Amino acid sequence: MKYTEGMLVQDALKDQVVLVTGGGTGLGRSMTSYFLTLGAKLVISSRKMEVLEKTAAELREQTGAEVLPLECDIRDYEQVDRMFRQAREYFGKIDVVVNNAAANFISPTDRLSVRAFHTILDIVLKGTANLTLIAGKDWISRKNAGVFLNIVTTYAFTGSAYVVPSAAAKAGVLAMTRSLAVEWAPHGIRSNAIAPGPFPTAGAWDRLLPGELADKFNPAKRVPLGRVGDHQELANLAAYLISPYSAYINGEIITIDGGEWLQGAGQFNGLKSLNKEFWDSMEKQRKGSG
Ligand code: HXC
Ligand code: NAP
Repeated sequence: MKYTEGMLVQDALKDQVVLVTGGGTGLGRSMTSYFLTLGAKLVISSRKMEVLEKTAAELREQTGAEVLPLECDIRDYEQVDRMFRQAREYFGKIDVVVNNAAANFISPTDRLSVRAFHTILDIVLKGTANLTLIAGKDWISRKNAGVFLNIVTTYAFTGSAYVVPSAAAKAGVLAMTRSLAVEWAPHGIRSNAIAPGPFPTAGAWDRLLPGELADKFNPAKRVPLGRVGDHQELANLAAYLISPYSAYINGEIITIDGGEWLQGAGQFNGLKSLNKEFWDSMEKQRKGSG
């Protein structure tokens, strides 16, 4: 068995209707693809209809399952409301919302215009709030159970220089996840999040590691396990968290980063660079003076 293989039993998501924002590209597409193989029906939504339609056609071809592409800019509450209603009317219900759509760029904060800063907050924090409010109200008024899975980042809890609007917005999504896990649990609504470390996608890599940055800042080198993530391992975790198998998991933020953020956090973690001779001489001194 390998981490590049699907993990859940066949039919783990049978007849579940899952809405994935940003489902046409990157990690959203990988999650969508795996959920389909587990028996789910999918709605994928984002701004670019041609990208969504291409992904939907390819995934239908691969899996034989149903995928509904719907255009929607999550910044616009009316568009999100329309998209959610269209999706529910098409499939008769929505069981799971994966808040995956996001935007980011790398920049010193003092070089950002206020419009640039707000653009990221609007997509990541307010966009997630828009869909969460619409889906949550719908589920509560119909007395339906539901599951939210929010994709955040590890710097949602640490903060990070050079991606400040994204860090602030993702921290807001993290707080929303934990808050609603308590508030809406009595309605049968679970809320969890995944905090991924580096997973190669065109969207993230082109924006966060443009040009020479990709050579200077090799993400794999920052990870104690020495590699970046494989999309299937994230899809496995996501499928588990939206499936009935995780029915007692609520309000968790699960990190999947090979130990990356902790490596930066531990005060003495830098000592990893010291060699065997150094530790041998330390031991000798200690024993000699003991
Ligand atoms: C500084 C920038 C900028 C940049 C745009 N702006 N790109 N500022 N550095 N690289 C400024 C613009 O000048 C403008 O401000 C404002 O931001 C809005 O730009 P628009 O192009 O008009 O916005 P829009 O068309 O809405 O596009 C949004 C976008 C774009 C965020 C700029 O990149 C996008 O659509 N991204 C979606 C996909 C994405 O980002 N994926 C990565 C997710 S990865 P002014 O003042 O000039 O008008 C992720 C990973 C986290 O989150 C962790 C990884 C390890
Ligand atoms: P990606 O492919 O660029 O995904 C971002 C998606 O969001 C795109 O499909 C985009 O589609 C959609 N989107 C952007 N703005 C939108 C808007 N206003 N309305 C609706 N949809 C919008 O990047 P990714 O790497 O797969 O990222 C997926 C998620 O993982 C994000 O939440 C990201 O923060 C998180 N993440 C990724 C990494 C990583 O290493 N890849 C690490 C940590 C966290 P359109 O352009 O068609 O709108």
